[in-house]
Order: sequence, then C-alpha cells, then structure tokens
Amino acid sequence: MSSYHQHDVLIIGSGAAGLTLALSLAGKARVAVLSKGSVNEGSTWFAQGGIAAVLDDNDSTEAHVTDTLNAGAGLCHEDAVRFTVESGKAAIDWLINQGVSFTKLQDNSDYHLTKEGGHSHRRIIHSADATGKAVHSTLIDNIQHSENLDVFEHHIAVDLITQPDTGTGKVRCTGAYVYNRNEDRVDVFQARAVILACGGASKVYLYSSNPDSASGDGIAMAWRAGCRIANMEFNQFHPTCLYHPKAGSSLVTEALRGEGAHLKLPNGERFMERFDPRAELAPRDIVARAIDHEMKRLGSDCLYLDISHKPAEFISEHFPTVKARCLEFGIDITKQAIPVVPAAHYTCGGIVVNRHGQTDLDQLYAIGETSFTGLHGANRMASNSLLECIVYAQSAAEHISANLSDVPSPDRNKPWDESRVTNSDEDVVISHNWDELRRFMWDYVGIVRTRKRLERATHRIKLLQKEIQEYYSNYKVGNDLIELRNLAMVAELIIRSAMQRKESRGLHYSLDNPSTSDIARDTILVPTNFAAQEIFVKP
Ligand code: FAD
Ligand code: SIN
Repeated sequence: MSSYHQHDVLIIGSGAAGLTLALSLAGKARVAVLSKGSVNEGSTWFAQGGIAAVLDDNDSTEAHVTDTLNAGAGLCHEDAVRFTVESGKAAIDWLINQGVSFTKLQDNSDYHLTKEGGHSHRRIIHSADATGKAVHSTLIDNIQHSENLDVFEHHIAVDLITQPDTGTGKVRCTGAYVYNRNEDRVDVFQARAVILACGGASKVYLYSSNPDSASGDGIAMAWRAGCRIANMEFNQFHPTCLYHPKAGSSLVTEALRGEGAHLKLPNGERFMERFDPRAELAPRDIVARAIDHEMKRLGSDCLYLDISHKPAEFISEHFPTVKARCLEFGIDITKQAIPVVPAAHYTCGGIVVNRHGQTDLDQLYAIGETSFTGLHGANRMASNSLLECIVYAQSAAEHISANLSDVPSPDRNKPWDESRVTNSDEDVVISHNWDELRRFMWDYVGIVRTRKRLERATHRIKLLQKEIQEYYSNYKVGNDLIELRNLAMVAELIIRSAMQRKESRGLHYSLDNPSTSDIARDTILVPTNFAAQEIFVKP
C-alpha cells in the first residue's frame, strides 16, 4: 500500500542546488528533500577544482563575464552571465557563513585562489582538491538542524504529477510519483511548489566522470510533463579522467593544469600549443578535442598529465585527493605522469528556466545542472557550475517564499496505478539496453560527430525507446528501469539537438559542418504537450 506525503515544497535532489534551496527556505515552508540514494550521492560530493567568483582585487566582474562569454562560444545569454557573476561574491560569503572551510594562503591572510581553463585570473576558491565534499558535507550537517525539513533517502521520483488549475486554466505541477526503494513501492508526494534539482545526464555516455545518479531524470521528467529543453547537444567532456581499468569515474582536476601541469604524448612531448596559444589552459572543449585528436592519430589508449616537475610538498598540499587516488593504482604523481582520457562530465543544456528557476509549468522550478539558465552557452567554463547551483537556488528560494502564500493547496493527487503490471522476470533486457545505449552514444554522439553517425544513433534510439517503453508498460518499476527510461529519453533529446545544429560550435563539433555560423542560436526542443508559459528564448 503506497503512502501519501504532503509538504509546501518538494525538492527532488539533494546536491548543492537542492540543499541550498532547502536551507534558504528554512523556517518559511515545510519542505521535503528527495535523494535517489544516500543524501551525499550526486556530482556535488565529487567536485574537485572549486567555485569561480570575483574575490581578488586584481580581478573584475567584467573579466569573469568576458571569460565566460568567450568559453561559451557566442551562445551564453549575457544577462544570465552577468546575474550569476554579480551574485558570485554573496554566494561564496553565504557558503562561508554556512561553515564551509576553504583553503587559505600559507600566511592565513586570505583565501587561496587557483586557476583553471578559460579563466584570465586566479578566481577559483577551493578546499584543496575536494571542494565538493567540503561544501556538500557542510550543507548536509546544516539541514540536519533545520526545522520543518524532511529528507527522504532512497526515494526516486518517477514522474511529475500535473493538474489543470481550475482558477487560471493553466496546467500546474502538484507533486511527483516517487519509487520508495526501502519499501519497494511507489508513493505519492504532493506540494504547492516542486523543484527539480536532479543534476546532469552524463551517464548517458559509456565513459563519464559522474556518479551513477547522473541519468538525466530531471530533464526527462520535465520533458514528459510538457517543458521545453534546450541545447542538449552541448555535453561537456572533461579532458582529464584517470585512465586505468579499475579507476571507474575518477577525475583529475583541471586545477592541476592551473598550477602548471603539462599534457604530454606517450613520448613525453607537449602538444597543446599546436592547438591553442593558451595551451593547457585553453577552454575544455578545445583541450578535450585536442586529446581526442592526438589519441586517434597515434592509436594511443591514453595521453599523460604531468605535474611531477613541481615540488612534492606543493603537490601533496594542493592535490591530496588526486594523489591518493592515483597511488591506489601505483601511480606516484610527485614522480610520474598520470595516464588520462577525456570523459563525459557536464550537461550544459537542460530544462529552460528564467532567473528564478521557473520552468514552463506552473509551480515547477528547476535549478543546478538539470536546468538551462543560459549561463554556459556552448561550453561551460570550469567551476562556474557550483556557482550557478548556489545563485539560482537562492533566487528560486526568494521567488518561492514571496509567492507561496498565494498558491492554494492542490486537489489530492491520484494514487499510482499498478493494476496492469507484474514483476519482471527478464532483467537482462534492462542491463543489455543500458550498455548498448551508453556505448552507441559514446561512439556516435561523442566528442567528434558526423551526420552519418548521428543518423545511426537516431535509428538505434528509436528501437531502444520502443523496447524500453514496452517493458515499462508491462513491469513494475525499480531503480534501474526508471534510470534507463530516463537515459533513453535524454539520449533522444541529445541526438535530436545535435541533428538540428548545422555548424560546429563549442562542444558540438561536426566533421560535416566544421565552421561556425555567424548567427548563434539555441536549440530549443518543444514537447507536443508544451505547458506554455512564455519565459525567454534567445532569438
Ligand atoms: P547533483 O549534485 O548531481 O545532485 C543531484 C541530486 O539529485 C542527487 O541528490 C540525486 O540523488 C538526486 N536525484 C537525481 N535524480 C533523482 C530522482 N529521480 N529522484 C530523486 N532524487 C534524484 N563544478 C564546479 O563548479 N567546480 C568543480 O570543481 C567541479 N568538479 C566536478 C568534479 C566531478 C567529478 C564532477 C562529476 C562534477 C564537477 N563539477 C564541478 C560539476 C558540479 O559538481 C555539478 O554540476 C554540480 O555539483 C551539480 O549539482 P546539482 O545539485 O545540480 O546536482
Ligand atoms: C575540475 O576540478 O577539473 C572540475 C571543475 C569543473 O568541472 O568545473
């Protein structure tokens, strides 16, 4: 028998975005936070490099804005960039007030700022090379002391619930059906405002820096509920993930390059200057493509990142996480170069939102990596993501608290209907389709694309979608099926967006259309059940 939960605000996701929103609403509303696994799962925990913000007197808002626009290859929305950058210092102050301990200079006089690709100044505040853990663990500690806040771990949202609003005639989001993993049943959550803070979709690719939770659930749920989704062709590949058969998704932070690490071919030669005068500190799309090009040219399984020319003490102090992880595989980064390959890292596209995180659907908000604010354009600049999570979560919180009292309680949502499904006896269908999907996305919709490859991917995804939909209609839901259904949805959106873009720009590089068009346009996909509340579209 499923349970029924009622709150003022339902936040789906407990990463930096979800928890910042929850803490910003503390004392103002009764809030539920859902997490797919334990509360600390998600990309936030694994963030390494840091958070970009203008904190140094030699830096300026204008410089951070210009760097972001340049990295975004002409597609950033300048208003979103300015809003985010101008809110940066306050966002960092808020984190410091929450108790996040950022790395200080040796004389303790101020915070140490590091550098990463595309940044013209040192502006990345960090906590050694484990910034995400420092931020996330602090926010988790704090929500434990918040009143009126219920955290539901191992609860996976399956789909959003909508109702026509009798007063306005508009469609409104009133909650979600949620698979309760502890009890193996689908519960109903009802709320006056629902927030998608589900993170990105990089698990759609075979090799990824992301944790397993990054299956694009927020994007898929919003699309099915009638929201527009933008710029999904711009999936960012991080240039340097550890290459080792047992390393899984281990990132080697870009801050290593910021502090002077060199990228090298297997023969020890540096090569980045052949691709960009900024060499190792060129924006990520350029560095990842250069590595991919050199690996294919040389038939090499990986290239190398070398910081061993720096003092061992400096390396140990700044990069303890990377050092320890590499040592697990017998690589001493103070003496040896690190074998690296690019891997899917960040979803620049997502659910179209305005400055308050409002989506096309009444009372549905989206924040963090799942959203499309216009900040990142065709390529996100390093360390702008955590900043976006905090800034937009706070802006959404302000909007929700100002408007919630005007929002009437919705009618009771219908219970989940399981009358026509049975237990699955063929789980192999899920694992097979999961593998096939991620492999063809890597091979056909990866760093370098062609029309032919995208056509192949289109054909494959249609077959998979049909099979998965059939399976979903006949069998009871579970974690793997929910994620596979969403991954397939997101893969379709990525392929459709990539097919629509007839140029190369930022992270989308096509051998058939290598040049960049003079006019920069977003790719905006509109669902057939478009919920329609006009927000913004860049012409
Ligand atoms: P996440 O932190 O991914 O959280 C998503 C949450 O949603 C999780 O709690 C998950 O359980 C939940 N969820 C998802 N689907 C469902 C569902 N169906 N039902 C219920 N809950 C659900 N960015 C930077 O700015 N600086 C960095 O240094 C940096 N380093 C990075 C290093 C790594 C290895 C990775 C992977 C990313 C890095 N990024 C960095 C990117 C950044 O960490 C993420 O973009 C950001 O943390 C996303 O936060 P979020 O709150 O949107 O999502
Ligand atoms: C890194 O530390 O290299 C990741 C930074 C980011 O993704 O913003």
